[in-house]
Amino acid sequence: MTQLVAYLLSNPHDKIPNVQGMLATLQAQVEQTLDKAFIDNDEDALLDLHKALYVMYEAKFSNPMSIPSSHEYSTWLIATRSRIERVWLDWEIVQIASDLPEESVSREHSSLCDWFVDQAKDLSDVDKSVARYLADEAVKEEFVKFMLADSHLNYRFYDALVLASAHYSEEVKAEISHHLWDESGEGLEQKAHTWQYSRTLKKMGLAEPLIPIWDDWRPYAGFNLYFCLGLNRCHYFKSLGSLAMPELFDPERDKAVVMGLQRLGFEAKEQFEYFYNHMVEDLDHGKQWLDHVVTNVVKKQPEAGHELAIGALLRMQAMKRYNQYLGKLFNFHNRTIQTVDMATAE
Ligand SMILES: [Fe+2]
Ligand SMILES: [Fe+2]
Repeated sequence: MTQLVAYLLSNPHDKIPNVQGMLATLQAQVEQTLDKAFIDNDEDALLDLHKALYVMYEAKFSNPMSIPSSHEYSTWLIATRSRIERVWLDWEIVQIASDLPEESVSREHSSLCDWFVDQAKDLSDVDKSVARYLADEAVKEEFVKFMLADSHLNYRFYDALVLASAHYSEEVKAEISHHLWDESGEGLEQKAHTWQYSRTLKKMGLAEPLIPIWDDWRPYAGFNLYFCLGLNRCHYFKSLGSLAMPELFDPERDKAVVMGLQRLGFEAKEQFEYFYNHMVEDLDHGKQWLDHVVTNVVKKQPEAGHELAIGALLRMQAMKRYNQYLGKLFNFHNRTIQTVDMATAE
């Protein structure tokens, strides 16, 4: 299915032979793959669907003069994307439903902010093992894999934030603008987080990967979640809730990466500024996001608190799956791994 989507996106609509036949084939493949993925939990089908979504989302950010960009409002693209998104999100929300807060919590800003902080600390053994492994055991080749796996989202994070900045209160826009300003290097190209990440890859002897190294649906799903929520206005509050979570849980991950790089003999502050700077700067970002985004939204529209919470739990679920993927990348099944809490490890 992904190949067919990629083919349709990369050719002008009026140049595709038997386009109606191809679109009928695509529709049939989508339905078949959705059943396999979300009824049979078939991992190959999940991968195929998420690769197709990834290709469709990336078209949104393609070169404005390219053929994929000309398909932005093609009816086949909108229909295919929204059909997959609807079934996928329904499937995801069923899995987090029992962890959602009571209305008395989600409609009250200070209790909802406390709930966000508690959720961000709800780490599994795998989550703790990945952090511990990066800090204490991972060798350079494993950091190479980790940095390649992480790169696509790091290059797209600014765009995910931009999507969340469209029309809401001035206070929410101001908070997001503050994050965008940081992401763009406060106006200095060399300080932009994307440039910092390119220097990180270069330090490891790597170029920016053109396509993801992921051979697993879970990292695709984590990436796609940002754009599924960000590109659909009806999921706006979910996207704000989802974006809050990395600000709260990422500093521990960045700290583990910095510790691991220092252990390997690098000077993280100078040589891997991307991770070092995020470790330091994100410590305040979580609180700022809660104070200026979550609080503001719930004060203005208490029923939106439920949507913020859905977004938060979807992001936590995506983060946990990403750690399971990293566990596979690091061959955890062949090792005995300690699960010491990073916060209490020093
Ligand atoms: Fe960043
Ligand atoms: Fe941040």
